[in-house]
Amino acid sequence: MESKKSTSDALRNRQLADEIAALKKEKNAVIMAHYYQRDEIKEIADFIGDSLALARKAAETDADVIVMCGVHFMGETAKILCPDRTVLIPAPEAGCSLADSCDPEEFGKFVNEHPDHTVISYVNTSAAVKALTDIVVTSGNARKIVESLPADEKIIFGPDHNLGEYINSVTGRNMLLWNGACHVHDRFSLQGIADLKKEHPGSKVLVHPECRRPLQIIADKVGSTAALLDFARKDDAREYIVVTESGILFDMQRECPGKTFIPAPAEDAECQCNECDYMKMITLEKLRDCLREGKPEIHVDPEVAKKALRPIERMLELS
Ligand code: 13P
Ligand code: SF4
Repeated sequence: MESKKSTSDALRNRQLADEIAALKKEKNAVIMAHYYQRDEIKEIADFIGDSLALARKAAETDADVIVMCGVHFMGETAKILCPDRTVLIPAPEAGCSLADSCDPEEFGKFVNEHPDHTVISYVNTSAAVKALTDIVVTSGNARKIVESLPADEKIIFGPDHNLGEYINSVTGRNMLLWNGACHVHDRFSLQGIADLKKEHPGSKVLVHPECRRPLQIIADKVGSTAALLDFARKDDAREYIVVTESGILFDMQRECPGKTFIPAPAEDAECQCNECDYMKMITLEKLRDCLREGKPEIHVDPEVAKKALRPIERMLELS
């Protein structure tokens, strides 16, 4: 019964993939996907990457249409970088708990209270927050960008508190941190990871810097999704405990077929908390419909976009 269902699912996915390929050609579109997307989306994407790579790729594409298979702020970033292109997002309701933890009005007040500080914002923010920012960073370049600033520069860093603590620890800075977090990365279980480590003594622990400080401290490698994948590719261990959204396991397994990747458990063992429900909102059907109908399209208020462009460009220049 189960195998009949998976055969029909595979057939359906193949049909959808064919329709998507034809539409993509007709519209001169490029499909970009974040590592946390569903496996079947990544199988047909033209480009898979972390937030930094997606922003870079968007900035240099010559396609007429960019379909962003990611969360809303990723579509906004692409639109701000490419205002003359059509940027589509198959599930516009795909938000981000971390971006939501930084209300632009509240953040604006915080910034105004510290007028002598340079404002650095993580890319997981709304366009309105980016417009209040001096330099945008991703987890892939935050350390490099902070280190490029003079040692005595006063810095506000938002919204991810855990990433901010990590950057403070590796750079010796004392950045003022906004208290935001991602509901997926903030809930991994230290005890659960310690138990897994006992069961797999030769394994290495790969941790995204949005995870809490104790997890960063026990990690063999802390890095962005792309950096963790790259580490797994080059390292010589056979087993890895992966402490980030579980979508990356597909890419790790595909690129390192002889190795074993074990998803880290969340504190609430009952829930699938190591999955980002926002990222999983995009399905092949929604992607096909979005290409066929040319919507939903991302729009950013031109005034906000103008202000948000400069800090994103500074990130691309500095990284
Ligand atoms: P990366 O920058 O590592 O792709 O992470 C983005 C993200 O949303 C992490 O939760
Ligand atoms: Fe946002 Fe967290 Fe999902 Fe990343 S995993 S998109 S930070 S909610």
